Amino acid sequence: MKHNNEVDILKGEVLFEDGNYQFIWLGWEERDEGLVQVNQYLIKDGDEGILLDPGGVHVFPRIVGNVSRYIDLDKIKNIFFTHQDPDVSSGIALWLSVTPAKIHISKWWIRFLAHFGVFDHKRVMPIEDKGGTLSTSSGKRFEFVPAHFLHSPGNFSLYDPKSKILFTGDIGAAIFPANQRYLFVDDFNSHVKIMEGFHQRFLANNIAVKAYLNKISRFDIQMIAPQHGAIFPDQDTSKKFINWLSGLKCGSDIINQIYG
Ligand SMILES: [Fe+2]
Ligand SMILES: [Fe+2]
Repeated sequence: MKHNNEVDILKGEVLFEDGNYQFIWLGWEERDEGLVQVNQYLIKDGDEGILLDPGGVHVFPRIVGNVSRYIDLDKIKNIFFTHQDPDVSSGIALWLSVTPAKIHISKWWIRFLAHFGVFDHKRVMPIEDKGGTLSTSSGKRFEFVPAHFLHSPGNFSLYDPKSKILFTGDIGAAIFPANQRYLFVDDFNSHVKIMEGFHQRFLANNIAVKAYLNKISRFDIQMIAPQHGAIFPDQDTSKKFINWLSGLKCGSDIINQIYG
């Protein structure tokens, strides 16, 4: 794994590689002025691509540019959305127009997609609450893991058994102060300080957290890749994050504190 000061912020980085298989982080915007950083990922399995939370209109040109370094857009066969938020999925109509991809999103959000300009649902595959799988033509099988109420009520992670990377969407999000962003978590205790505010306010409660952690306990997790903030780059840091999350009081656990 590269050191943070070697990371190519604009072009992105390959997080895992084995032969013609790659799990790729697609870079950040050049400007770093305290905006919520959004991570997008591409899984390339031979000549077949999967995009994870490719995001909204304003990041579209960068994502198209960085994806095209690795694979032609017409080879993007699937796009996975963890949930319905605009930073995750508001570019859906653009992606449907430039790729032949099928879209995978919780069944609860299908009828809301019209508000992002999607009226034809032939390429939209609803994910049932209990989760599901996605297979590539080489036979690799990815799991949609239920993560409901963390924060969205219809929410999923994606586990990749090849790279052993768990893509968690908003779970594990961090918000960097201006001009202090970094890609890989190397000091977990200081990283907690920029994660805890979001997790306490956005996640529903510890019951939902425990249900999720029970679901992911059967996976061998070597890396956790969230949609905002930094990546937990190895098994040890991923375990620290899971331990921290398991004890978190959030949402309705601290409802009186939130109401003030
Ligand atoms: Fe969200
Ligand atoms: Fe998000």
